[in-house]
Amino acid sequence: MARYFKYKTMADVVNDATRLGGELVLQDDLAPLFSPATVAGRTVGNRLLIQPMEGCDGTLEGAPDELTYRRYQRFGAGGAKIIWGEATAIAPEARANTRQLWISERTAADLGRMLDGARASHRAAGYPTDDLLIGLQLTHSGRYSVPRPWLATHDPLLAPLTIDKTTGKKVDASYPLLSDDDLQRIEDQYVAAARLAHRIGCDFVDLKQCHRYLLSELLAARNRPGRYGGSFENRTRLILNVVRRIRAEVPGLILATRFNAYDGIPHRGVGTGEEFIGQPVPHELPLVCAFGTDLQSPAREQLEEPIALATHLVQAGVSLLNVTMGNPYANPHLVRPAEFPPVDGYHAPEHPLAGVLRHFRITAAIQRAVPGTPVAGSGYSWLQDFAPQAAAANVALGQVAFAGFGRATLSHPDFARSLAETGQLNRKLVCRTFSYCTGLMRAKDHPLGQYPTGCPPFDKEAYGDLWKEVEHKRKQPGT
Ligand SMILES: Cc1cc2nc3c(=O)[nH]c(=O)nc-3n(C[C@H](O)[C@H](O)[C@H](O)COP(=O)(O)O)c2cc1C
Ligand code: SF4
Repeated sequence: MARYFKYKTMADVVNDATRLGGELVLQDDLAPLFSPATVAGRTVGNRLLIQPMEGCDGTLEGAPDELTYRRYQRFGAGGAKIIWGEATAIAPEARANTRQLWISERTAADLGRMLDGARASHRAAGYPTDDLLIGLQLTHSGRYSVPRPWLATHDPLLAPLTIDKTTGKKVDASYPLLSDDDLQRIEDQYVAAARLAHRIGCDFVDLKQCHRYLLSELLAARNRPGRYGGSFENRTRLILNVVRRIRAEVPGLILATRFNAYDGIPHRGVGTGEEFIGQPVPHELPLVCAFGTDLQSPAREQLEEPIALATHLVQAGVSLLNVTMGNPYANPHLVRPAEFPPVDGYHAPEHPLAGVLRHFRITAAIQRAVPGTPVAGSGYSWLQDFAPQAAAANVALGQVAFAGFGRATLSHPDFARSLAETGQLNRKLVCRTFSYCTGLMRAKDHPLGQYPTGCPPFDKEAYGDLWKEVEHKRKQPGT
């Protein structure tokens, strides 16, 4: 069934990387993953980080529900020392789906219980908690808010892919942009959310600037007029204002940010069946709206601005960076290299290993630019059984401080324990990147407007029946 991942040995993977024109180092010695690190003066017990993984399973009010509590308990018990809590909206209109977490006075206590649950299960599994960091990813979904998009700018390539669900129409050049005053109010909302997050026991908050949600779109908003668009200084105004204000107004809260260091270009599927393959959407050069991207040659990264951003963020008081790229709606192969796309998605136009190498290369460049600040990397899961060997080598080489695991944690939340105790992943739980989790995430035909997501093949108890239900509905005529 495997299309690309046919490796038996570390040498097979390394040779394939070389064949693709990249460089990959793997090492058997996993000790670097278990050496402590320092984040904002706090000791962190190992280099294994659970990436933000939305479960789309909150209540309609934005509080965690049964499956949400379960996920964080499992993460806590698993032994990774940074639990990067998932996308949590700063306001109701900022949510990307009807069940996304939303931090407010009404939900704060329950979100606090969710964090406490992760700490308690960490302790119960025999780990100390003074070297564990848990935070939340604060988000405004911007273009991807439901039911209506909130645009920072008119991106000519994303506009035809953006639907206003209140009218069923695509957005166009007449669709109103968020005004400068609106953005200033959003700054206030971030600060208020960070204050609440601190109150409920977050060690850190992530000011999410990735995957082309609002703050990520702003970084690319070269064609936006006014105080928040155009020049690099204007495009980074909002994030730097928020960082400085939280630094001043919420002392003690560690500031982190997950940012897109490369947007690339939107893709759409062309062809049918197995040959439904992603291709760049029709475009003119230079691109108008993209960050970290060579505007004349968008398949290539251009890291001058992302490096300047990382440097400015650190100077303003950010202590932890998390590098990612792409857009899960418009070029998912950049975000999460996968063996197979979700049912409605295009096949990747590149070998997934090329996507993994891009993640490693770009993250290493950012880490080199801010050597005193820990950077977390993304995109490890496609490497399956070899992901820990890549993580260990990247940490040993100083190319990254923390290896972030995304999908791999849904199938195998106790991956850190398995690595510590046996030196390898539990082969029965290794994520095979077949994208059922993304399929569930895209399934909206649910009484609450959104199916919860997790790992149906390896966490059948919680998600097996949900997956069958979604498949059944998909096969109904007319759906
Ligand atoms: C089901 C699912 C939920 C996700 N939720 C988030 C999220 O809340 N915030 C975020 O920044 N990225 C999110 N991501 C992206 C992952 O954090 C990660 O960057 C991506 O899966 C690539 O890493 P991996 O190869 O280890 O899976 C999500 C991905 C999936 C598949
Ligand atoms: S459904 Fe499970 S195995 Fe498949 S990609 Fe998602 S986490 Fe991995």
